[in-house]
Amino acid sequence: MPRPIIIDTDPGQDDALAILLALASPELDVRGITCVAGNVPLALTSRNARIVCELAGRTNVLVYAGASAPLERELVTAEYVHGKTGLDGYDLPEPSMPLAEGHAVDFIIETTMDSAPGSLTLCALGPLTNLGQALRQAPEIGPRLREIVLMGGGLFEGGNTTPSAEFNIYVDPEAADLVMHCGAPVVMIPLDLTHQTLTSDAIIADFRAMPNATGPATAGLLDFFERFDVEKYGSQGGPLHDPNVIAYLLQPDLYGGRHINVEIETGSALTRGMTVADWWRVTDRTANVLYLRNVDVAGYWQLLKDRLSQLP
Ligand code: BDR
Ligand code: CA
Repeated sequence: MPRPIIIDTDPGQDDALAILLALASPELDVRGITCVAGNVPLALTSRNARIVCELAGRTNVLVYAGASAPLERELVTAEYVHGKTGLDGYDLPEPSMPLAEGHAVDFIIETTMDSAPGSLTLCALGPLTNLGQALRQAPEIGPRLREIVLMGGGLFEGGNTTPSAEFNIYVDPEAADLVMHCGAPVVMIPLDLTHQTLTSDAIIADFRAMPNATGPATAGLLDFFERFDVEKYGSQGGPLHDPNVIAYLLQPDLYGGRHINVEIETGSALTRGMTVADWWRVTDRTANVLYLRNVDVAGYWQLLKDRLSQLP
């Protein structure tokens, strides 16, 4: 039986590729996509998620709009990375499929409560506001989840939004704090890992050469997305963060990490959203996260290419 998942997301080019990877994978049953404000405001993330479903030929996927701002903070967006629309880099048609009726948070709660305990996985690719709100309204969903797999945080790489914080956690640290202690097994995919999965000219050329519509669209999105980080880090390519969440579900053997304690800084202005990760186990705080640090980079790109070549 395919594994049931909800994808919570703020597309974003890298979110878009994560969604495509999931929709191309028969091992996964995408029960719904819940959108949150993050890279760009909610109106755009909920538009972009539908554009991506239509690119994949999956107009039947339920796409919900969720939180338009973090639990307790002003929204911070990242158009400087993702462009004005969040999906700059390739001209894709406006979506014709409608948003699903209802709120993303209610959908998360209802789907979790209606699923067998320990069966539903939540894949979080953006700020954790929808999940945080769901946990506030219905804390009983935490222990019912099979797993929460999230892209966010970092230790060895520092932050990408402030010196100490990664974007998704920085935007809504209170929500991240709730997630870290919700009773679900949490798998964390930090910058320490995603900064290894860099794009390259050769990889982008492989996508561009695919004989379907998805390949060239992917190449355009990647071209645009990498430009910011290539300039920032002086690297050959840009880190493709979010598809790691889906790739981990499909091929966990590509990944390695440790069970450690991670706490979220919510008090300090200077280190807001820092993921205080006890990698060296120097405290006696209880491990609450599987912190992934290693990835088989070639295997990751091969998986993405194989699966996206199957799409329309
Ligand atoms: C994360 O922030 C966003 O810019 C990306 O979509 C990714 O989820 C990386 O810090
Ligand atoms: Ca994202």
